[in-house]
Amino acid sequence: MRWNLGLTCAAALSGFVSEASADVYRDPDTGFSFSQKDVAITTNNNHITFRIAIPSPVPANQPYDAVIQIVAPNTAGWVGVAWGGSMTNNPLLIGWTNGANGVVSVRRATAHTAPTAYSGATAQVFKKGVKSNGTHWQVTAKCTGCTSFVTTGSNTKTLNPAGSNRLAFAYSRTKPSQPGSDSSPINVHDLFNYWDHDFAAAGNAQFDDLVKGNL
Ligand code: HEM
Repeated sequence: MRWNLGLTCAAALSGFVSEASADVYRDPDTGFSFSQKDVAITTNNNHITFRIAIPSPVPANQPYDAVIQIVAPNTAGWVGVAWGGSMTNNPLLIGWTNGANGVVSVRRATAHTAPTAYSGATAQVFKKGVKSNGTHWQVTAKCTGCTSFVTTGSNTKTLNPAGSNRLAFAYSRTKPSQPGSDSSPINVHDLFNYWDHDFAAAGNAQFDDLVKGNL
């Protein structure tokens, strides 16, 4: 079933998808090998694809960078990834498209109110892996600080690089009001949900070199 969703996506997005298998996607644009998941946003197969790449090997319990690629239908004004799997007390990486450019912003919330800037993580949009067509937009970015973070008090959570991590997403049909600015206000989401992302399939031995080639 998931493979069918992948095919639907590939058909709708020629040039976006190649060599797709059920869970691993080798991106011809950026060179990364991503672990990917299609997450439904409607009941008729409309979905957002989340792709994550990490270094390999990752030493146990060490902070490590992650590359995230989001492929969203043009109906999505912004898409957010909650790395800790809930809205509060973890990095919220929000991405959107602004013409030919991609914009990402990392924020944080302590309640179910508009998140504010988060200095504990930094995201950089790649030069490659950012594009849009008549149906979808795509943003690719590296995040430092998204896989290991303080949750509450002095508790730190580090995502398991060798297994599955529960993530959450939110999306809004309304574009940020200042789309060219990574500090733009955003509207509340129209939908949120959770998924388990397989980080064990996200490893890239050439991670640092690939990052350099994409920035
Ligand atoms: C203006 C910005 C935002 C506002 C006002 C807002 C507000 C809210 C509210 C009121 C809820 C509770 C909804 C319910 O229980 O039915 C909620 C839940 C949620 N929001 Fe947001 N939100 C915003 C941005 C974000 C962003 C950027 C993310 C990033 C992924 C996010 C992720 C979630 C998730 C996963 C939930 C489910 C409950 C939880 O895990 O805490 N939100 N939000």
